[in-house]
Amino acid sequence: MGSEVIAMSSEAPFSELLRQQRRAAGYSQEDLAERAGLSVSAIGSLEQGLRRAPHRDTVRFLADALGVSESVRRQLEEAAARARGRQPRGDSGLPTSLTSFIERHELDELKALLSDHRLLTITGSPGIGKTRIAIELARRIEDMYDETWFVDLLPVRDGKFVTSQVALRLNVPAESDDDLSGIVRRIQSRHTLLVIDNCEHVVADVASVVEKLLRSCSLLTVLTTSREALALSAELAYRLPSMDATVASHLFLARVQQRDPTWSLDMERLAVVADICKNLDGIPLAIELAASRVSTLGLEALRGRLKGGVTLAGSRDLPARQQTMNTTIAWSYDLLSDVEALLFRRLSVMIGAFTLEAAEQVGSGESLPVQAVADALSNVVEKSLINVDHIGTSTRYRFLESIRTFALDRLRYEGDLENTMLRLMEWLDQKAAVFDSSPPEVIIENWSDLDNVRAAVSWALSNSSYATMRLQQTLSLGSRALGIGTFARPTLAH
Ligand SMILES: Nc1ncnc2c1ncn2[C@@H]1O[C@H](COP(=O)(O)OP(=O)(O)O)[C@@H](O)[C@H]1O
Ligand SMILES: [Mg+2]
Repeated sequence: MGSEVIAMSSEAPFSELLRQQRRAAGYSQEDLAERAGLSVSAIGSLEQGLRRAPHRDTVRFLADALGVSESVRRQLEEAAARARGRQPRGDSGLPTSLTSFIERHELDELKALLSDHRLLTITGSPGIGKTRIAIELARRIEDMYDETWFVDLLPVRDGKFVTSQVALRLNVPAESDDDLSGIVRRIQSRHTLLVIDNCEHVVADVASVVEKLLRSCSLLTVLTTSREALALSAELAYRLPSMDATVASHLFLARVQQRDPTWSLDMERLAVVADICKNLDGIPLAIELAASRVSTLGLEALRGRLKGGVTLAGSRDLPARQQTMNTTIAWSYDLLSDVEALLFRRLSVMIGAFTLEAAEQVGSGESLPVQAVADALSNVVEKSLINVDHIGTSTRYRFLESIRTFALDRLRYEGDLENTMLRLMEWLDQKAAVFDSSPPEVIIENWSDLDNVRAAVSWALSNSSYATMRLQQTLSLGSRALGIGTFARPTLAH
């Protein structure tokens, strides 16, 4: 075989690529058919473009038989995927993060495992990096699938809505009464990677949905994150460990430099950083919280304070890592200014991602004027207690769940929960007016607000008759907006 022939235009059809590579390898159609275990007529119709969208396995057999390089293999796969009408890039809903990803060797392990298993669950304690590594893994292998989808179950408070949440995220038309069949029809004939984040609170329902999907869709691969495994026989549960010392220090350094690009590590600082990361049990979330304080506290003081903080608070019966996490969040919270802390607590009613506008409406009030919210919010973001996501072109803020739970506890403790919920509903009511004459697609674009609507609705139904009365308008938004999403009608019918 001569030197490798790459190329043609990157959009060349599969038929042309195949003919070119076969000739370059010096094979006749018969030779290739025999080596690939395919019929001669199959090769013929592929080269003539009569069969335009070969199955993934066919592509693999052909590439193996031709002995092509990785890049040519990719070209062939791409061409076949294009012909199969693959999902356009950016449609998967995979969140993009503003912060850098720090390489960990677990990623390669997970990648290998996912190629052998149709269901892989990443388990581990809060803040250990499950979501981040799942997203990164999905992004890196996205090319191997016709479609990749990301479904976050955090907003789903009741397990019976798991299926409808998945259907919603996969753009399964709402007309069908049976969401599961809708999903199956949608993905059955396509190589699909389905990422389901945050399964722990509805684990049994996820297990049942995933089991049915895997059974009906032979081309489906599922990647989930959960504090506990789904306990299905097809499942491989992978417990994500803490970051090892080197990776943890990298993360710490990256997060300090994000705020101060001139900051560097010498041997002395390195030792302190290593000590801090060890104190924080190598938990990425705790490391991020601590690193965000270096510029104001300095490294030595940070170490001193963390030692105090981590040994002082926390209840002894919690698993050690969770305790480290909680005490680090408390430590970070205690360092907020009064106004920042107030906003931080109030925003904890937001289960879904939220906009600045939402933060202004829900977070403002007594002791915090609307005009002060943007500044306070960016300070809290700066301290890593709230995250920023860019989904498509919009910017949204979001709590990590362990931090949100902490903030919500404090909000309740301060007696400010009911008031804040009412503000959330007021804001949702305003939104209802805005949406009054909007077509369903416009409403549905506001995914995250729908999550917040649902949170408010379920809180009000179970907590306060006054809130439920006040809810009438929110309910009308809810039934309109959530109705088209298929998942909320049963909740709203109470
Ligand atoms: N490998 C990594 N590189 C960079 N940041 C990370 C990494 N792993 C975790 N993080 C960060 O640590 C925090 C907690 O991670 P996350 O994936 O949300 O944890 P979990 O899902 O286990 O609760 C997030 O802010 C995340 O961006
Ligand atoms: Mg997570």
